[in-house]
Amino acid sequence: MNAVPQRVEHQMTDKGYVPVYTTSVIEQPWDQYSATDHQVWATLFERQQKILVGRASDEFLRTQQAMGMNAHQIPKFDDLNRMLRATTGWELIGVEGLLPELTFFEHLANRRFPVTWWIRKPEQLDYLAEPDLFHDLFGHVPLLMNPVFADYMQAYGQGGVKAHGIGPEALVNLTRLYWYTVEFGLIRDTGGLRIYGAGILSSKGESIHCLESDAPNRIGFDLERIMRTRYRIDTYQKTYFVIDSYEQLMDATRPDFTPIYARLAAQESVPAGTVLDTDTVYNRGTGEGWLTDGDV
Ligand code: PHE
Ligand code: FE
Repeated sequence: MNAVPQRVEHQMTDKGYVPVYTTSVIEQPWDQYSATDHQVWATLFERQQKILVGRASDEFLRTQQAMGMNAHQIPKFDDLNRMLRATTGWELIGVEGLLPELTFFEHLANRRFPVTWWIRKPEQLDYLAEPDLFHDLFGHVPLLMNPVFADYMQAYGQGGVKAHGIGPEALVNLTRLYWYTVEFGLIRDTGGLRIYGAGILSSKGESIHCLESDAPNRIGFDLERIMRTRYRIDTYQKTYFVIDSYEQLMDATRPDFTPIYARLAAQESVPAGTVLDTDTVYNRGTGEGWLTDGDV
């Protein structure tokens, strides 16, 4: 029999929180999930499905349904892979935890999406420090069925391999783009502002906060602005960036970033909560046109 893969998590040391990285690709040990694991999946799945009606992007809700994930049990990667391969050619691979940057980029560049095999514990329903199976599968995987988003994710991986070769500042810029799109992105759908970022989609609190709180800024997508903007990983975001469509994301990121990295190296980064006078700021979507702050 196969050995049970490890559950690789961060460690608390006398220097504080330390992320731990792992590179192994593993078979999903599906038979080893406990009744508690399936119950955690069911609880989170049902809770998010309810919250995301009218909040998640139409395309996310459509693709998630098409994939056939349900609350009944933790999905089998093999089943999801049959669907994914046939639609956009993506494939899920099982991993034990966070991957080193270059390894992660190389998987994406080859249309392989790493999914953490283990799921959080019942006492971690609302927050945990690193990605688990629920975040990865529920949040990230459905949109891999969308052809444009699928291409964006691969292009990001290719761009990551390139940025890794350029240097650490380029990687910081590129990582911010992932953060503010793939993890925390909002989109203008027909009904108003909607969520497509996986970090939001897998969080009950942030799914509400990002659309309904007056605290955060919701700012129109601007590539270089995003690449200059810092972020925090342990609080709700102070700023969300809003795309008009997945095509916009793809088109805006198509150019070679090499000259952009060079230009940004000479500029100050922008704190997470700042609004610049060049920003387009969206209020909560009313479906009645898109007011900017100056309009109200
Ligand atoms: N065009 C980018 C580059 O030259 C690659 C990229 C595409 C990065 C899409 C992110 C997202 O580096
Ligand atoms: Fe993620």
